[in-house]
Amino acid sequence: METLAVDLGERSYNIHIGTGLLKQAGALVSPVLAQKRAIIVTDAHVAPHYLSSLEASLSGAGIACASITLPAGEQTKNFAHLEQLLDDVLGRRIERGTSLIALGGGVIGDLTGFAAAIALRGIPFIQIPTTLLSQVDSSVGGKTGINTRHGKNLVGAFYQPRLVLADIDTLDTLPRRELLAGYAEVVKYGLIRDAAFYDWCEANGTQLVDGDKDARVHAVRESCAAKAAVVAKDERESGERALLNFGHTFGHALESETGFSDTLLHGEAVALGMLMAFDLSARIGLCPGQDAVRVRKHFEAVGLPHDPRQIAGVTWNADTLISHMALDKKVRDGKLTFILCRGIGEAFVTQDVKIDDVRGLMSQALAA
Ligand code: NAD
Ligand code: GLY
Repeated sequence: METLAVDLGERSYNIHIGTGLLKQAGALVSPVLAQKRAIIVTDAHVAPHYLSSLEASLSGAGIACASITLPAGEQTKNFAHLEQLLDDVLGRRIERGTSLIALGGGVIGDLTGFAAAIALRGIPFIQIPTTLLSQVDSSVGGKTGINTRHGKNLVGAFYQPRLVLADIDTLDTLPRRELLAGYAEVVKYGLIRDAAFYDWCEANGTQLVDGDKDARVHAVRESCAAKAAVVAKDERESGERALLNFGHTFGHALESETGFSDTLLHGEAVALGMLMAFDLSARIGLCPGQDAVRVRKHFEAVGLPHDPRQIAGVTWNADTLISHMALDKKVRDGKLTFILCRGIGEAFVTQDVKIDDVRGLMSQALAA
């Protein structure tokens, strides 16, 4: 097991990464519990694989635990399920020291974290992420929340977990498409500020996707280390943390158009969005066109979407996508924020982008 620290003063916490960690969960979690009592929140896909093993480990360590299983999928991250979850949690007569444990992907982590942030004005929570995306991104850094009819992640809180337990073995049951979507977020860390890690991804990405545990541990560790460093400097995204949104302005627009459905998973949208960010950077002369070609080739090699026109059943329109962007959380003073790059590993935040350049790029990228 490897342990990284997220350094946030009195809100600091550890990330444990390794194999076989669920079986050791009781011992690993015990030191951060205020009370030997916890409620596990999971979803209907994850529960059959991992809930009993987690419960056994917690009970073995003398932790009284109950569980709540919610439906799987992005639709669960909404007001209705938040209410249902809080109602269920409060109905169990919890105290301020009772912890919530999120066992699942980003949906369960974001929803449970937000419920923990507001139940009794804040109870402790622990992340046990079971998707690659949640192990490398959403479980670390304290962004919690839900979607609303006005858009994704528009209601939430910055609320840090007490511990993150990333058991690489749980990725064995993850569908390949979900794994690939998470891999896009791994590559993101290389693309934004670590060209050497991007080289590693090119050399090891296929093995990682095919099941190589050492490659998976390495990728999760490097990703978490990169994210922990950024979050420690800029917890509330007033500066550098915005780099982690690389590909997200375009990606969110693509996801909005597909209704945040299985047509396009979040990580797939981010993959396409990162390519658009490279293409835009090349188009306005910021980065060599060769870099965009190289990243597109890597996505194609591992099996990630690399062209929005590959997504079956969607008719894209540049102006509609731009109107989705205008609803993005990252709009400041009415101006869109983009993360662009001067090359692989050299991303930066800017609001200095002409909308005509964005429209031109999109029209070209989406033309039949
Ligand atoms: P998810 O939680 O929906 O999980 C994807 C699917 O895999 C679901 O069907 C789930 O039931 C299933 N699953 C999970 N673990 C499994 C396992 N080990 N074996 C088999 N099936 C398993 O999706 P996700 O990609 O993990 O997370 C996406 C969410 O994360 C989005 O809502 C996004 O907004 C959010 N997110 C949050 C942050 C953050 O910083 N908080 C960052 C990135 C993304
Ligand atoms: N996933 C982006 C962030 O946590 O800031």
